[in-house]
Amino acid sequence: MKTKIFCDIADFKVIKHYNKKKIVDGFTTNPSLIRLAGAKNYKNYCLKILKICKKKPISFEVFADKPEDMLSQAYKINKWGKNIYVKIPVVNSKGIFMGKVIKELSMQGIKLNITAVYTVDQTKKILKCLNKKSRTIISIFAGRMADKGKDPVPIFKKSIFLSRRNKNVEILWASTREAYNYTQAKNLKCNIITMPPKIINKIENFGQDFRSMTLSTVNGFLVDSKKSKFSL
Ligand code: G3P
Repeated sequence: MKTKIFCDIADFKVIKHYNKKKIVDGFTTNPSLIRLAGAKNYKNYCLKILKICKKKPISFEVFADKPEDMLSQAYKINKWGKNIYVKIPVVNSKGIFMGKVIKELSMQGIKLNITAVYTVDQTKKILKCLNKKSRTIISIFAGRMADKGKDPVPIFKKSIFLSRRNKNVEILWASTREAYNYTQAKNLKCNIITMPPKIINKIENFGQDFRSMTLSTVNGFLVDSKKSKFSL
């Protein structure tokens, strides 16, 4: 089983670059990444991306906070293209589970990416809302957990186990912090990992042996010492 690599980015030029690359199977965005890319108009910016990324799956998130507004945004976003996964946060800013939103959209056959997932309990609740014929990604935020000293691996193991019977559910390793996370995701048989471009570049260079790594490390220190003309 292949662990697909998605690029976690909203920058138009970067998407253009990675859309051509075989290593990247799809893209994920979120409102913060779209803001970071300098977008002034959410819809226009997403449509510009979609002119480039026509086939590979791409997730665009709703940014409303009320369930009814989330639904209305989700229906609009879904119409922008066939390759879109509509991203719905597992809870809104009040901490209320967005089960009704997830259920309605899934029953309509809309491809979803349920985001900001941190617990096995959330995975269980999401799975209960899904139409088994409709495709869904569940995005578990590994890096943000690890940043708080928590091990994401057991949460992935259990979530992957719970979703094993639903062929249309894919577990996604989100919030990637280092290249080794790809190895972890692969070992877990996680369906997808999304990562920033700089980590994708590192994965393309996997396989360097320790001897040459030692040499390039030592050389780096030597070059910097010379550049700074250090003397003792
Ligand atoms: O797009 C969702 C997720 O991958 C964000 O990651 O780096 O903001 O924790 P990060």
